[in-house]
Amino acid sequence: MSDLKENVDTLLDEINRFSITNPEELEQFRLRFIGSKNVIKDLFALLKQVPNEEKREAGQYINKVKLKAEEFFNAAKEQLQTSEEKSLNLDFSRPGEPYKIGAQHPISLVRNEIISIFERIGFVVSEGPEIEDDWHNFSALNFPPEHPARDMQDTFFIERETKEMALRTHTSSVQVRVMENQQPPIRTISPGRVYRNEAISARAHCFFHQVEGLYIDKSVSFADLKQTLLYFAKEMFGEHTRIRLRPSYFPFTEPSAEVDVSCSLCNGKGCNVCKYTGWLEILGCGIVDPNVLEASGIDSKVYSGFAFGMGVERIAQLKYRVNDLRLYSENDLRFLKQFTSAE
Ligand code: PHE
Repeated sequence: MSDLKENVDTLLDEINRFSITNPEELEQFRLRFIGSKNVIKDLFALLKQVPNEEKREAGQYINKVKLKAEEFFNAAKEQLQTSEEKSLNLDFSRPGEPYKIGAQHPISLVRNEIISIFERIGFVVSEGPEIEDDWHNFSALNFPPEHPARDMQDTFFIERETKEMALRTHTSSVQVRVMENQQPPIRTISPGRVYRNEAISARAHCFFHQVEGLYIDKSVSFADLKQTLLYFAKEMFGEHTRIRLRPSYFPFTEPSAEVDVSCSLCNGKGCNVCKYTGWLEILGCGIVDPNVLEASGIDSKVYSGFAFGMGVERIAQLKYRVNDLRLYSENDLRFLKQFTSAE
């Protein structure tokens, strides 16, 4: 017992004299007193030789040095950390500066919403090139050779002379590519950026984004088109939304129509957003012209289909009441920040 006490006292003494001023010394201390082969463990071996009636007291004695070592180690460790912080001149108690979290662009948000509405009724997304040839952007879509939309006024041609390649003016070009590679039933939407040679103003831009849709199967009718668009309008603008169709013209659809939705702001009563008409124009549509089907290798006697196309900026403008198209591409954080989703 006295042997043991002597050993403990020597160790206590050693701990008291130990000075720790750097990580190496801390590690030395740890190996000697804390680690898996520490000296205190040897004392427990001595404990076996102590007579039973003294065991309790001896155990407490050993525990004393064990606790002392641990206390000393923790204190030294903490001390070292704070002096390390000081030498780095850092104050870890200062409140952190939050990272500025980016937000999704309003055009992305609305495009994704449009896509998800159509995916729910079985449409799949298809994409295509932004630099397009005459065939896919115009000819296959039944544009006559002298059609004004081919003119320099509207189209950015890659080569002035040949006018063979251009920046696509709509994503109908993607639908031609789908029809060329796939037989009906076809149910697809093509989101993407399109380009038109227009002067940049609050109401027009030289590029914008579209989502166009195409549905081809046996006996697809105008009624299917109307119902699909009504479903879309209700999902996008709310259950009370109504739609109306006005006759229109596109080379690739016959008959063609433009679609208005009841103004979601005044509920059709008339306000300055809908210019007191109660209606807002959102898209163009129609029954795919048989010439277009044939040009892409689809038998127009067996199949029919509908197509529609909308501008994402336009839908976003109505949803978020953005009154200047230029805001979408100016990268002004004060504008972009407003569309952070709630989570
Ligand atoms: N492609 C037309 C446009 O860009 C939109 C449209 C698509 C109209 C499909 C009718 C059918 O304006």
